[in-house]
Amino acid sequence: MILLDEIDSSLKDLKKRSLLRKRVVVSGRKKNQIKINGRWLINFSSNDYLGLSQNSSIKKAIISGINKYGNGGSSSHLVSGHTEAHQNIEKITKNNIGFASSILFSSGYLANLGIITTIVEKDSFIYADKLNHASLNDACILSRGKFIRFPHSDMVALENHLKKNKTKKKKLIVTDGVFSMDGDLANIPELVKLAKKYDAYLYIDDAHGYGILGKSGQGILEHFEKKNSIKKISKERIIYTLTLSKAVGISGALVCANKKIVDLIINKSRAYIYTTAEQPALMYGIKRSFEIIKKNHSLRKKVNDYVYLFRRLINQKNLLVDSITPIQPLMIKDAKKTIKISKLLNELGLYVPAIRPPTVPIDSSRLRVSISALHSEGDIKKLAQAINEIVKNEN
Ligand SMILES: Cc1ncc(COP(=O)(O)O)c(C=O)c1O
Repeated sequence: MILLDEIDSSLKDLKKRSLLRKRVVVSGRKKNQIKINGRWLINFSSNDYLGLSQNSSIKKAIISGINKYGNGGSSSHLVSGHTEAHQNIEKITKNNIGFASSILFSSGYLANLGIITTIVEKDSFIYADKLNHASLNDACILSRGKFIRFPHSDMVALENHLKKNKTKKKKLIVTDGVFSMDGDLANIPELVKLAKKYDAYLYIDDAHGYGILGKSGQGILEHFEKKNSIKKISKERIIYTLTLSKAVGISGALVCANKKIVDLIINKSRAYIYTTAEQPALMYGIKRSFEIIKKNHSLRKKVNDYVYLFRRLINQKNLLVDSITPIQPLMIKDAKKTIKISKLLNELGLYVPAIRPPTVPIDSSRLRVSISALHSEGDIKKLAQAINEIVKNEN
């Protein structure tokens, strides 16, 4: 139990190192803008990459779901919370992504926790990318398996670890699909190859890839299937998680896997069993959102064009990271300076959050610019111009 005076000194220390966190209170959202402290700002902080959180046909679908099922989730999936609406969403994933089975969680965090802590045992080995999302790291730690982290995207280091435990049976490689704070992609073809070679399972958290990557927005597997031979590799050894809170624009997560794993989760996953099912009305919205993602290629094109435009307009190319996704961090590195630039942008009506440790490694503080189909070309130009000027003056 932490003592109150220890809390004081811990918070003071965070403040001294420019790492103290405070929440901003948002009092409105309207298209590309959010209202903070009574001011409307252009929002470059959202994971709503396709703008679907504001889509009116999705809103209507959710309201029709409320009319059918009411406002709440009512009880857990294993009691009476699992409705036909939840069941239908799990079926859609089979057709869209091509896994035998899938299961819904109420959030991406819970999905990672619920899956990894259930399938990993004490005698299992986990191999995790060092830049994986915190929810994956928490899940790996709680699983009590042997947790080995390899340097970011270093396939040679990963293979060396796998070689050491070649004869061990229970191995799980864990990775973000799109790395949440950097926007770069995991090397899925190589990870699939290594999983096959060393008889390991591969867990992919595609929170930021689903909706954005792939010809029909079906995420990182579709993105690489086109260019490589992943189709020939059985999905039996892949567990694929997509969150419904980012490009899908709602909330929750779907985990796609073989049927045996899904049956195990239903029976043993504490994070699945001991929580209320997601509100059923949201399933109607998710269904509509899936339809839009699959058919509306122009939304993806718009975002990709903005990404390209933004990268082209930034003068100091060394601030950019190698990312083709709407996550476009600008690596300022120093936490204090990052906060200062974020504040200056805010004064110009642009909301770009400063991301600092422990969310990112020490000395890699950044402005996490996230681009959305809700933006206009003018918004992107305004942001790039403001960043160019501020950064020039700061140097
Ligand atoms: C890679 C990744 N996984 C999981 C999550 C958690 O998802 P959720 O917000 O639905 O809990 C996030 C959220 O930011 C994420 O970036």
